[in-house]
Amino acid sequence: MKILVVGNGGREHALAWKIAQSPLVTRLFCAPGNAGTAAIAENVDIASDDVNAIRNFAVSNKVDLVVVGPEGPLCLGIFDELLNAKIRCFGPSKAAAEIEGSKAYARELCRRHRIPSPLHWMFDDLSKARAFLDMREEGPIVVKASGLAAGKGVTVCKSLVEARIAVTECLEKRRFGDAGNTIILEECLEGPELSVMTLTDGQTIVPFEPARDHKAVFDDDKGPNTGGMGAYSPVVLQSRTRNQIESQIVFPVVHALNRESRRFQGFLYAGLMLTVQGPRVIEFNCRLGDPETQPLLMRLKSDLLPLLLATVDGKLDQQQAPVWDDRHAVTVVACSGGYPLEFKKGMPIFGLDRVVTGPDLQIFHSGTVKKGGDVLTAGGRVLSITALGESISVARARAYAVLKDVEFSGIHYRRDIGGAG
Ligand code: AMP
Ligand code: GLY
Repeated sequence: MKILVVGNGGREHALAWKIAQSPLVTRLFCAPGNAGTAAIAENVDIASDDVNAIRNFAVSNKVDLVVVGPEGPLCLGIFDELLNAKIRCFGPSKAAAEIEGSKAYARELCRRHRIPSPLHWMFDDLSKARAFLDMREEGPIVVKASGLAAGKGVTVCKSLVEARIAVTECLEKRRFGDAGNTIILEECLEGPELSVMTLTDGQTIVPFEPARDHKAVFDDDKGPNTGGMGAYSPVVLQSRTRNQIESQIVFPVVHALNRESRRFQGFLYAGLMLTVQGPRVIEFNCRLGDPETQPLLMRLKSDLLPLLLATVDGKLDQQQAPVWDDRHAVTVVACSGGYPLEFKKGMPIFGLDRVVTGPDLQIFHSGTVKKGGDVLTAGGRVLSITALGESISVARARAYAVLKDVEFSGIHYRRDIGGAG
């Protein structure tokens, strides 16, 4: 089978790495991919948001399955385009992807179907949002741009002063462009966060093992949020919590989307907060998390490809449940100097050839490019070093040991990934 993976991050390198192990694969493409995917697949120079070019490539190369990593092309309707061209696409339709593309839609969906979520209020008018804040008691509140904002559209405000600034940034200064035309103000919840990614064809619902990412840039969760500085899996949960997550959130949301005629096929990501009142939805994404995918796929023993194909064909009920490695997986993300603010690209990466990778240790490339014989940095997040171990501390030590050998100018990473586990 010919498979095309769309995207160029660590998640897509991990997906391509896992798919490449399937005996069903005869040819593997990545659009656009990175220096890591170039070693295991054929990179195709098409941007992941260029839906028309991806469709044309898939048609002319008779691709059997397109696996879409990031939310951008899904929200642009890549599934629907490929369906018209009779190409199978793993990922939700444009209508179902709105669960990520519009936080307003996701919140209203939760409200309509009583899925446990923070209280929220929506505004598209600055004076009304300000008047709401004027009426509110002092305290923390969260301000979110409704549309896609590359993970930067959320401000957790400690005070109303901060909230007024965040509201103005969105609705008046248009910091997130059209993505901030509608904002959501949310009750600020407290508790550990958890990422639960679920494979579903809209009928059969297969929650994957939980994972946890570390969003803040510095140790001890200090500094601004990033796309994710590292992740680990499994996360030890009480069975009661796991049951609540499945019965109150994961199963109901898949059924809710069906009832709203937006059947979801693909990976549905629930970003949760485990509050003292129980699990609450922070956000839904229409795809796998990055970097959570990296430790998760290291732990997946089953062939991923038959699961993806069965999802697309609506036959997930005919598949065996995925089998997981009981060991712990940890991913540490090495970033460019300055990330998540301004950073330089094009720094040569040294030492990659010194690292002996294998089933227990992988360097998934997050933002790299190959130039001549060199591998250069090409993004804020550069490498996702991922290790398996009998315990989380063994996995962590194995991942951090790699960072003694690999370097590039400006490299920075958190030293406490998996530390809270
Ligand atoms: P999101 O992009 O919606 O996942 O939000 C990014 C981060 O902001 C989350 O991972 C949380 O740490 C934080 N956050 C979002 N919504 C809330 C909320 N209602 N209460 C507290 N923290 C939140
Ligand atoms: N790591 C969070 C996300 O992928 O949205």
